[in-house]
Amino acid sequence: MEPYSMKNPFPATVRTVRHITKPGSAKETIHVDFSLEGSGLEYTTGDALGVFPRNDEQLVDALINALELRPDEVIPLPDGSQTSLRKALIDTCDITALKKGALTKWNAVAQSAKLTSLLEDKEALKAYCCGRDWLDVANDPETTAHFASAADFVAILPKLTPRLYSIASSPDAVPGQVSLCVGAVRYESLGRARKGVCSTFLADRIKPGDKVCVFVHSNKNFRLPEDGATPIIMVGPGTGIAPFRAFWQQRIADHATGPMWLFFGNPYKATDGCYEDELEPLIANGALKYSVAWSRDQDHKIYVQHLMDAAGAEIWQWLEKGAAVYMCGDANRMARDVEQTLLAIIAREGKMDAQQAADYLAAMKNQRRYQKDVY
Ligand SMILES: Cc1cc2nc3c(=O)[nH]c(=O)nc-3n(C[C@H](O)[C@H](O)[C@H](O)COP(=O)(O)OP(=O)(O)OC[C@H]3O[C@@H](n4cnc5c(N)ncnc54)[C@H](O)[C@@H]3O)c2cc1C
Ligand SMILES: NC(=O)c1ccc[n+]([C@@H]2O[C@H](COP(=O)([O-])OP(=O)(O)OC[C@H]3O[C@@H](n4cnc5c(N)ncnc54)[C@H](OP(=O)(O)O)[C@@H]3O)[C@@H](O)[C@H]2O)c1
Repeated sequence: MEPYSMKNPFPATVRTVRHITKPGSAKETIHVDFSLEGSGLEYTTGDALGVFPRNDEQLVDALINALELRPDEVIPLPDGSQTSLRKALIDTCDITALKKGALTKWNAVAQSAKLTSLLEDKEALKAYCCGRDWLDVANDPETTAHFASAADFVAILPKLTPRLYSIASSPDAVPGQVSLCVGAVRYESLGRARKGVCSTFLADRIKPGDKVCVFVHSNKNFRLPEDGATPIIMVGPGTGIAPFRAFWQQRIADHATGPMWLFFGNPYKATDGCYEDELEPLIANGALKYSVAWSRDQDHKIYVQHLMDAAGAEIWQWLEKGAAVYMCGDANRMARDVEQTLLAIIAREGKMDAQQAADYLAAMKNQRRYQKDVY
């Protein structure tokens, strides 16, 4: 049998889906467990899982309606089989992200002056595509199109792509299972509630017993130190905590003695703690040091890097003892800010200038003692 992979994903059974953040939270974070039993799939702590989502049925129905197409119209598939328009739009087509290529094909049918001018202006097109999906394009009389057949419409749409999630479990702690920690992407645009395709598929539309197509995505650049006695510092605000749950599970499974320090952050203590029941015994027995930044529990923001800066002398001691530093979560702002703080700590505590501090961190990177999993 062909091994399971991105091209041949495994239909994993959902074991559990539960909210981690509490009702009323500004974040909606969920935990999902899938069974990998019977798949032959193996993963290493630090890897990611690829998930093939399905589109929101309400959005699909609204789009079919707006285009005045029939949901049961037959769509031929490349392998010679057939499906219905509705099923093709739910399972295989990207109906949310607008891209220049597909819009150009749409406009060959729509012949819209508005789209023609947008397609010639890179910046205007970028602004137009942000916060819009195909339903917006179909509903706008200036941009709508009349397709001769459902197959003609499906032919212009890119394929629905899988999303990656850092695996939040260790294969040695929970054999045959893989866990994810997912932030639901929800926002409002042009007066309509929008949902991130995969994160809300996992948050809203799966239940225990359902099958979801998955594959393992190896991440060789995010690995625990080979020596279990090496101290590790983990910086993971928000869903950035995901691979660190795998790390602490792995270290427990390995009976590793190296100290662990987790920097976590989320908006409010009352609603946004993650995996606290698992952290408590580790904190109590001294295996893990926990520094948490509740960003909105006071007038001013407190982020993980503020706690790191305040603990700079101790972080420096850990680094000088050979600690490895890991960072996971938001690539846009957090990763840069945390790295700047790390450099400042190295410079201040190690009595170095900026270049020496940069060299110190670069050397850590070369020794695989500074690894990032940011997105
Ligand atoms: C290696 C890796 C590991 C990851 N690990 C995790 C993880 O552990 N947990 C996790 O939750 N995520 C993780 N992610 C992110 C994850 O892969 C998805 O990108 C995320 O879940 C969003 O996917 P989606 O399908 O729900 O949203 P999509 O349908 O892809 O929508 C997201 C897009 O919506 C748009 N958008 C979002 N907000 C707004 C707004 N306010 N206004 C206008 N447009 C907006 C943006 O264009 C954004 O790119 C990881 C990513 C990578 C690459
Ligand atoms: N590429 C994608 O498609 C995609 C999809 C989903 C998520 N993401 C990224 O993943 C990140 C994780 O999302 P999340 O909702 O779990 O958590 P998050 O937005 O990163 O928030 C977690 C905590 O970090 C704080 N924070 C904000 N800015 C920070 C900074 N510059 N430095 C340090 N901490 C900062 C937040 O505070 P405040 O909120 O109070 O400011 C909050 O307390 C998102 O920010 C997003 O960028 C990417």
